[in-house]
Amino acid sequence: MKFKILLILFVFIVKGNAQVKNVMENESKIDSLISQMTIEEKVGQMTQIALQSFSIEGKNRVQTEPLHIDINKLRELILKYKVGSLLNTGQAANSLESWHEIITTIQDVATKESRLKIPILYGIDAIHGATYTLGSTLFPQGFTIAASRNRELVRKSAEITSLEMRASGIPWNFNPVLGLAREPYWPRFWETFGEDSYLTTEFAKEYVEGMQGDDLSNPTSGAACLKHYIGYSLPNNGLDRTPAWIPERVLRDLLLPPFAAGVKAGALTVMANSAEINGIPVHSDYNLLTKVLKEELGFSGFIVSDWMDVERLHTRDGISESPKEAVKLAVMAGIDMSMVPLNVDFAILLKELVEEGEVPESRIDDAVRRILRVKFALGLFNNPYPDKSLASKFASKESAEINKQAAGESITLLKNNNSILPLNGNTKILLTGPTANKMMYLNGGWSYVWQGNNEALYPKEKNTFYEALQVGFGKGNVKYVEGVGIDSVINIQDAVDAAKDSDVIIASLGEAPYCETPGNIFDLTLEEAQLKLVDELAKTGKPIILVLFEGRPRVISKIVDKVAAVVLGYLPGLEGGDATVDILLGKINPSGKLPFSYPKTVSGNTTYDYKPIEESEDNHYKPQWPFGHGLSYTSFEYNDLVVSNAQTINDEIHISVTIKNVGEVDGKESVELYVTDKFGSVSRPTRQLKGFDKVNLKPGEEKKVKFIITPENLSFYNRENKKVIEPGEFIFQINNLSKTISLK
Ligand code: BGC
Repeated sequence: MKFKILLILFVFIVKGNAQVKNVMENESKIDSLISQMTIEEKVGQMTQIALQSFSIEGKNRVQTEPLHIDINKLRELILKYKVGSLLNTGQAANSLESWHEIITTIQDVATKESRLKIPILYGIDAIHGATYTLGSTLFPQGFTIAASRNRELVRKSAEITSLEMRASGIPWNFNPVLGLAREPYWPRFWETFGEDSYLTTEFAKEYVEGMQGDDLSNPTSGAACLKHYIGYSLPNNGLDRTPAWIPERVLRDLLLPPFAAGVKAGALTVMANSAEINGIPVHSDYNLLTKVLKEELGFSGFIVSDWMDVERLHTRDGISESPKEAVKLAVMAGIDMSMVPLNVDFAILLKELVEEGEVPESRIDDAVRRILRVKFALGLFNNPYPDKSLASKFASKESAEINKQAAGESITLLKNNNSILPLNGNTKILLTGPTANKMMYLNGGWSYVWQGNNEALYPKEKNTFYEALQVGFGKGNVKYVEGVGIDSVINIQDAVDAAKDSDVIIASLGEAPYCETPGNIFDLTLEEAQLKLVDELAKTGKPIILVLFEGRPRVISKIVDKVAAVVLGYLPGLEGGDATVDILLGKINPSGKLPFSYPKTVSGNTTYDYKPIEESEDNHYKPQWPFGHGLSYTSFEYNDLVVSNAQTINDEIHISVTIKNVGEVDGKESVELYVTDKFGSVSRPTRQLKGFDKVNLKPGEEKKVKFIITPENLSFYNRENKKVIEPGEFIFQINNLSKTISLK
């Protein structure tokens, strides 16, 4: 009851009156439904199964073939085991039509043949677009779009993703990833919005609002899933799904705010972290799942486990002696739905546990209520079928334009000696390197297949970087010699020979696509073969422009002084080749800023919000490029930093600054406000981002940019892990300007 009141209050504050009415109507329908449900039907709702378990092709699908449903298996899952949720792709992307058929078959069984006619909730990893629908718009990956510092672009990318997902008949997206990329080895670095808590918090809100829209029952709104709650991104050894040690203060100061913002924005679901924190697998952590997320943050949607992670409490973590005890532990900790996903053991064991009195039925009812809430909110009870009329908006020209803008505003110019860039359109180019001529290098994982590595599935009409260069500079001006593979030498000497006829060399280096554990690495240095290619080419004396397509910042300190310019493409998505070339040509003036610190060495990496103790001679922050770094083809001048006369820690602080474009060309710039809390009862970061705003200025134009700092922005957790704002001196810094004020 307490929860229902909280829920209504929350929806009222966030969404207003009409939604409150809907929520209240839904709650009474849910009550009535739950009162009719058997235990089997309840535990079935809490069970999620993968498509490969009920397709004819199973695990052996050839990626380019259409998928076929095994109707008997499907009926068994839904009618016998009462399964309420399904996920994934059956090994590869499906066409829009194929998805329509799959979803229609599934919903037919659920809503026409089952006793209570409860629709299935289908979920998918639409990480940077509707990943698993052929031809979908694939945006820059999270850590790329974060460089744009453009809230509107993040929101729009989520809106379009939602539309294309729903056009496929799928209403639930396992995204956004809200971990912080503070550990560059971690193979999911690129799925995040970067290392900073504030940046991630701001984008969490935009993404959830973009995905879920104003009205969740709208046919283009999808359910977001905040993941992976919490601490997954900070593995001690940098490898996927390995232990993290996270003190409560760090958890609350840095890791929790993005999730809190996502919950506040109305996110319907949360996925738990596969790994463990402080020796406790998160799937069994009552404190984090129930006390903090559900009770403290007031999260009223449901928590889904990650892939197989309930049974892994027994099979991997050894914290429960049997699979059954694992189910009990997870459900009692607060997991509402298990992504089992290859058998129905969870449902069978949970039913036994309820019958034996080991799991109270009230806990099951709570989980089912949360799940049904999401199904009602999404309008699935009114219409669970794909809205075929949305096909006309799928992968539209407008979406491609927004996608290109997103890539263009994200790609970051890190180095530009003697303004070698932009290049004249007649420049003769030798293009070399392994990442130049495949779409997979621009997109990374979660692209049509899990690992993103099936080139045949990418839309043929989109340009690789090489193809885009040919369009931009003319075929006759671009010669491509691969030189090396990702980690093998092919024909470096051919590249060296070809360099003689060129004005510049563009070396397109980086990483092959990967996702999750297959992306583990043990050395952050860029592969030897690629470094060697640059070494040899540097001897020709021709200027080298280094273009990097990579999912994490690979160390390039050995070659960085040998190149004239560095363009970081990150994983810029389907339009990334074209956008990179427009930057090289100066058709787009770069405005991306690093959302992480680019390391210079393979260890000892420090994030920009380091502590005073790290400022000493030996310990100081020494990245290759700092967080926030990014060059432009124009210059900006900052003036008139004004900080209002706030007196106490409870006052709002108004800040303004004037920025002027003092260069020759139009330019966009993210104005970034950093705050330093000079003295604290626990050591405070030397500075923290607390505001950013992107402006567009013509040459000679100036604008005043304003920020408001709230008491919340100055708060942190003290020695007792209590949230406080401590009086004292605060420094406000924008670019080269700063002001100090004292607050009582
Ligand atoms: C990943 C999740 C993903 C799930 C379903 C897991 O392996 O960790 O991020 O949502 O698979 O595909």
